Amino acid sequence: MDFDLVIRNGTVVTASDIWESCDIGIKDGTIVAVGPRLLATACAQEIDAEGAFITPGGVDSHVHLSQVNRSTITNGVIPDRENYVADTYDTGTRSAVAGGTTTVITFASQMKKDESIIPVIENYHKLAKDQSYCDYAFHVIITNPTPQIVEDEFPRMVDEYGITSVKLYMTYKPMKLLDYQILDVMYSARKLGITTMVHAENADIIDWMTQHLEEKLMTQPYHHGTSRPPIVEAEATNRVICLAELMDTPILLVHISGGPATKHIRDAQTRLLPIYGETCPQYMFLLADSMRKGDFEGAKCVCSPPIREDKSDQDAIWAGIKNGTFNVVSSDHAPCKYNHPNGKQRGLQHGNLPYGKFRFIPNGLPGVETRVPLLFSGGVLSGRISPQKFVEVTSTNPAKLYGLKKKGSIAPGFDADLVIWYSQTKFQPFKLTNEMLHHAIDYTPFEGIEFKNWPRYTIIRGKVVFSHGEVVGEMGYGQFIQREKSLLPGPRDVWLSEWRP
Ligand code: URP
Ligand code: ZN
Ligand code: ZN
Repeated sequence: MDFDLVIRNGTVVTASDIWESCDIGIKDGTIVAVGPRLLATACAQEIDAEGAFITPGGVDSHVHLSQVNRSTITNGVIPDRENYVADTYDTGTRSAVAGGTTTVITFASQMKKDESIIPVIENYHKLAKDQSYCDYAFHVIITNPTPQIVEDEFPRMVDEYGITSVKLYMTYKPMKLLDYQILDVMYSARKLGITTMVHAENADIIDWMTQHLEEKLMTQPYHHGTSRPPIVEAEATNRVICLAELMDTPILLVHISGGPATKHIRDAQTRLLPIYGETCPQYMFLLADSMRKGDFEGAKCVCSPPIREDKSDQDAIWAGIKNGTFNVVSSDHAPCKYNHPNGKQRGLQHGNLPYGKFRFIPNGLPGVETRVPLLFSGGVLSGRISPQKFVEVTSTNPAKLYGLKKKGSIAPGFDADLVIWYSQTKFQPFKLTNEMLHHAIDYTPFEGIEFKNWPRYTIIRGKVVFSHGEVVGEMGYGQFIQREKSLLPGPRDVWLSEWRP
């Protein structure tokens, strides 16, 4: 057959199956054949997978790039590029491909409370255009769902821009929506087939606890976690599930960190509600002692929801991955530099305390490069999850949930987005240091963790973009993808009263 590229002798994994001694034939960026001993014309390029695993390229459906962190806005002034401390599309997606991720879904964020979302989307297109190493799509963050936005702009967002998901916040003062506003979003989302992602934490508990911890001078980075125990997440999770049940609309609870919230999601799913769950590697591999380092170094691990204290929460997250409560594992890559006055050091700029005030530490961690290797090494190779489950949560489900029809599997007709791993016998395990990574951030929360494998090749639409530790793809190769509606189950037409939308 006429292939551009044939990958030979791999152990090919999908969300359902594993085929050993399998070849993959690729033409014009698309997988056209999968099977043993494919016959190819002489001109086809060949890669020997040496019997190693081949998995679909990672789809990271929760990545913040070129997003100004709100805590760095002083008196309404957004920091200029030189003072920008996070990853932009070039550095963030370079990091993604080096860790086996071939598609990222990033956020176009409504910043000003009265801002129309159409210029916001256009602006993110400008930020990403010709900058991305991997394919990308957008979610929209809604901080003010005015009638104009939910009635006029949401339909345009779906039809003209191919954006079929929005994220809303139940916490963070400048961003949080009231329950009434959440219903406004859900009402429109249901009609239009939009998936609503929810950051579920109880804002009032956090504010009250923060205020009272400050009065007791309990302001170290570690107490970021003290201010947000697992019930903070669980209460908001339960509340938003109730709102979604009332509106009969699918939602995804993002970055779930604790056992109690996991249970609410599980219970809702058991009642057959279209409630989906996302968790992240920081809640699977780290515990809150990572926030106790040094006087202030724990700030490196400050994110919301916080990394949990209790091993039982971590165990509940792993159990939730195995039993299907969590449909996707994303990175929530939301980094900022540690050694920068606009980065984590902002937490030291108030009150003259050597350990700072956690209230002022920008929230979020880097993780787009480590997500896929962490789950492969610490999940599959450590025997915690099967190779198929790994593929399901890192690639197939995010593609289905967010309407990326040609991503997330290895079969004829899918984009040839692939990761070829090292043959296990040839790989020397190593301990991660930040210098090995390709982001623009000066630390990784996963420093020192041992990796038993790492992507040998990352391939996007048939082109090798990462090979043996080197990014060999080009900035600008990544394409924007207009998404379809979610391919997972949606509204059920089951109602709690006589009310109908
Ligand atoms: O701490 C986090 N996760 N920051 C990023 C923004 C968000 O809420 O996802
Ligand atoms: Zn969030
Ligand atoms: Zn996030």
